[in-house]
Amino acid sequence: MGRGLILGIESSCDETAAAVVERGAKTLASVVASQIATHLRYGGVVPELASREHLRAIVPVVRATLAEAGVSLGDLDAIAVTSGPGLAGALLVGITYAKALAFAQNLPLVAVNHLEGHIHAVLLQERQTAIGEPSSDSPDAQSLALVVSGGHTHLYLAQPSAGTWRYSLLGRTLDDAAGEAYDKVAKLLGLGYPGGPWIDALARFGNPHAVPFTFAQIKAKAHLGGKAPRTKGARTAPIAELDPHFLFSFSGIKTAVLRYVELHGLRAEAEARVPRMLVAGHPPETREDALALCPQATLDLIASFQHAVVGDLMKKTFAAAEAVDPERILVTGGVAANRELRERFTAEAQRRGIRIAFPALALSTDNAAMIAAAAWPRFVAREFAPAELTADPALVLGRQGTTDSWT
Ligand code: KG4
Ligand code: ZN
Repeated sequence: MGRGLILGIESSCDETAAAVVERGAKTLASVVASQIATHLRYGGVVPELASREHLRAIVPVVRATLAEAGVSLGDLDAIAVTSGPGLAGALLVGITYAKALAFAQNLPLVAVNHLEGHIHAVLLQERQTAIGEPSSDSPDAQSLALVVSGGHTHLYLAQPSAGTWRYSLLGRTLDDAAGEAYDKVAKLLGLGYPGGPWIDALARFGNPHAVPFTFAQIKAKAHLGGKAPRTKGARTAPIAELDPHFLFSFSGIKTAVLRYVELHGLRAEAEARVPRMLVAGHPPETREDALALCPQATLDLIASFQHAVVGDLMKKTFAAAEAVDPERILVTGGVAANRELRERFTAEAQRRGIRIAFPALALSTDNAAMIAAAAWPRFVAREFAPAELTADPALVLGRQGTTDSWT
């Protein structure tokens, strides 16, 4: 083995990303080409456009990454690529390119589950900080991981085991992901895409108790009927074995926000905002700017929505922490960039005396450094992808609903 350099490639959704990471611990370069401008006008990711943009971006992004890292293809020890879950066409662009590079350079290819990548974003961050600072938190601790993004709201128990990691699914959403709720609510309020950063910024200027949104406890019966739930992730989780206390549902709150908007006459002002969002702008950072964009009633609605979503994520995560007693909690994925989420999770963890970790902001949302980092233990264990590797849009991570039988 050379320096332990892995080139990671990520194209599962709307970012084309590449990174070079040394031994799963040191990022030499990480480049993310966002497609926000392409999907902006649709208020969501359009799969066909995503594939086309990935095709355009993949070669320049990989080239820029290698140049920034100061390495050539010949210096690499392996290529890692996200093989799922995600959009089939988008995943295929990364996979096809990664396979071709691996074949041409005679390098091993490591397939990485996108969700495992998000978990390793935190571990990479800790390893990076630990270089020259041996007293910092150990990344190799048994962790309760909340992966909360535009596509997922999943609770895993992640456990280091003989150099690699094992995962057990404890809970997940039955319908929308938390980030999807952020994006849909932002769209209906005429805010920019993706919605998370807008709602995050605007929520600070509203009253979080103005609208009492509630989440009903999911009943065991509702998901034990044997029918697959109405979700893209259905294959990833036969939920019958999961404790209903660790299940999420975010489709209801979106409807509740819609009803509130209509009842309180906020629709017209929301629609009037749309044209202003089509020019790329930044979410406001001052109260003045926030009020220039939204009336106080809308700011209150936004703050209340976020307060309720973060409260529900906390309630279930800490209930799971009580049940499995992990060494620490990790919160990762795009929504983990949220300020209120970080503050409230941190305060609650402190109150309970449990360690908690988040990735740096740039590592919270999709990137390829997390993919290269997650690939490192698999590379060391020589777990290489088969030659026929293809995209698996509904790829499963780990075992379901149990902590004693692992894959
Ligand atoms: O992890 P990610 O980049 O992609 C997926 O794997 O889905 O997550 C993107 C999601 C989007 O739904 C976006 O609105 C949300 O993360 N997001 C946020 C924030 N930044 C991004 N949600 C809440 N607060 C934020 N600051
Ligand atoms: Zn993601």
